[in-house]
Amino acid sequence: MTYQPDPERYNHMQYRRCGKSGLMLPAISLGLWHNFGHVDIEDNYRRILHLAFDQGITHFDLANNYGPPPGSAEENFGRLLKQDFGGYRDELIISSKAGYRMWPGPYGEWGSKKYLVSSLDQSLKRMGLDYVDIFYHHRPDPDTPLEETMTALDLIVRQGKALYVGLSNYTAEQTARAAKILRDLGTPCLIHQPKYSMFERWVEGGLLDVLEQEGIGCIPFSPLAQGLLTDRYLHGIPQDSRAAKPTGFLKTEQVTDEVVNRIKQLNDLAQQRGQSLAQMAIAWLLKDNRVTSVLIGASKPEQLADSLKALNNITFSSEELTTIENILRS
Ligand SMILES: NC(=O)c1ccc[n+]([C@@H]2O[C@H](COP(=O)([O-])OP(=O)(O)OC[C@H]3O[C@@H](n4cnc5c(N)ncnc54)[C@H](OP(=O)(O)O)[C@@H]3O)[C@@H](O)[C@H]2O)c1
Repeated sequence: MTYQPDPERYNHMQYRRCGKSGLMLPAISLGLWHNFGHVDIEDNYRRILHLAFDQGITHFDLANNYGPPPGSAEENFGRLLKQDFGGYRDELIISSKAGYRMWPGPYGEWGSKKYLVSSLDQSLKRMGLDYVDIFYHHRPDPDTPLEETMTALDLIVRQGKALYVGLSNYTAEQTARAAKILRDLGTPCLIHQPKYSMFERWVEGGLLDVLEQEGIGCIPFSPLAQGLLTDRYLHGIPQDSRAAKPTGFLKTEQVTDEVVNRIKQLNDLAQQRGQSLAQMAIAWLLKDNRVTSVLIGASKPEQLADSLKALNNITFSSEELTTIENILRS
């Protein structure tokens, strides 16, 4: 079946400026960490991609190691890009990353120029692309000089292999240092990708302030805490859930009674707001205008459709915010 995108797609989405750059990103972006590997079903992830684009999601986030096996999410995405989105490359913001272990030996992980340049070349081949829109250093490297890693990002942009660069999992202090080096090199840092959700608040201890000062956008990952902040685990662990899958990064041990108790209370509040818990968790992040886009995952098109409705209400009363804080502290 030939895919024809919805001509109305740009009327469904809100777009936000990424820091002080010229780039707008959709308020909700789609990540391909899980559910797009060779272990997954093509018909399902193809439908997820179609729905995303039809609803105005222009940004798709990948990394060298997404799968499993590592690299297979980029391969699968590349194949569908060619097959279904061939004429739409200029409407897409595609990101990839390098930082985690991708191949054996001393050049297959961390932050050397050797690793970053080789890894991006591999990612471009897998996806069949000439360039990615955003290339990230995936995690800070304690041993490589920050100057070398940032010079590699600058080089990649000058070579035309990426349009913008970003940082992921860098602390506030590391981000401030990296941003200065990049600015001096003439390749400003576009965006930071941190783990941030109602269950994971570290960015509030300084990173968000640094991003605002530096004019860097913020795209929180795992906004649903890998599915915990949804209705998935309200009544046990479903067989098709990430926690139950052997390839899932979420472990059954993380679905504790304490967590389920909090999820139930949050779910009650979401229902009072007329939202699903997933929608409330996404809205809770978007209420802060320092957050450019929320980077969600989905294992089914129905989940994506549900999550997108978060945009119908992203404001919270002060009573609702206090209730959330009390539940999270309980
Ligand atoms: N930079 C980094 O270090 C880093 C690390 C991790 C992730 N990321 C990026 O962030 C993206 C998102 O991460 P994530 O997949 O952990 O995000 P997430 O949005 O927190 O979790 C996605 C999972 O939540 C469940 N779900 C989603 N929508 C739902 C809904 N409406 N109702 C019920 N359940 C729902 C599904 O779980 P089931 O599978 O159980 O159905 C889905 O697989 C990744 O794809 C990747 O691009 C980056």
